[in-house]
Amino acid sequence: MKLKILVGTVTQTAQGVAQAIAWHCADLVDTVDIQPMEGLDLRVFDANPEEDAIHLICCSTHGSGDVPDGAFALYASFDAQPRYLGHVRYAVVALGDRSYGDTFCGGGRRFDEKLQDLGARRLVDVWCHDACTGEPPEAAAAEWCRGWLQAMLADTPG
Ligand SMILES: Cc1cc2nc3c(=O)[nH]c(=O)nc-3n(C[C@H](O)[C@H](O)[C@H](O)COP(=O)(O)O)c2cc1C
Repeated sequence: MKLKILVGTVTQTAQGVAQAIAWHCADLVDTVDIQPMEGLDLRVFDANPEEDAIHLICCSTHGSGDVPDGAFALYASFDAQPRYLGHVRYAVVALGDRSYGDTFCGGGRRFDEKLQDLGARRLVDVWCHDACTGEPPEAAAAEWCRGWLQAMLADTPG
C-alpha cells in the first residue's frame, strides 16, 4: 500500500507535517510519496491498482478560508473535470487558526467537501490543527495518522 500525501501550503507548515507523517508511518506502508499540489489536477486520483494508494490531503488555509494559491488549480479541477471518485480512500489534515473565526481550517475542509461530492471515501474524521494554540502540529498529526492507519490495516484481511 502507498500513502500518497498531497501538500497545499504557503509558509511550509503543511510540508513539515507531511514529512513528520512520512517518517512516523513509513513502517506501516510500502511507500510514502509526498507531492506538492502545484501543477496537479484531478488525474492525481486516477485509479492505479498496483499502487493501492491512500490519499492524505495535508492543506493549510489562507486568504479568508481559502486553499493556498498553489493548491487552487487542483481544487478548481473538482468542478472543471468532475468524475466519480468512488475508488478513492482518503484522509485530511487541515491547518488553520481559530482566530480567523468561521473560516477555521477552510482549506482542508474545502477539499474534504469536494472529495465527498465526487463519491470518495473518507477513512477518518478531518484532523484540524489550530495554530493559535502555539502547539506545533507535526508530532500530533503524525500520531493521529499512525493511529488510524494501524487500525485500518488491522481490519484489512490478508
Ligand atoms: C494571511 C493568512 C491568512 C490566513 N487565513 C486563515 C483562515 O482564513 N482560516 C484559518 O483557519 N487559518 C488561516 N490562516 C492560518 C494558517 O492556515 C495557519 O497558520 C497554517 O498553519 C499555515 O500553514 P502553512 O505554513 O502550511 O501555509 C491564515 C494565515 C495567514 C498568514
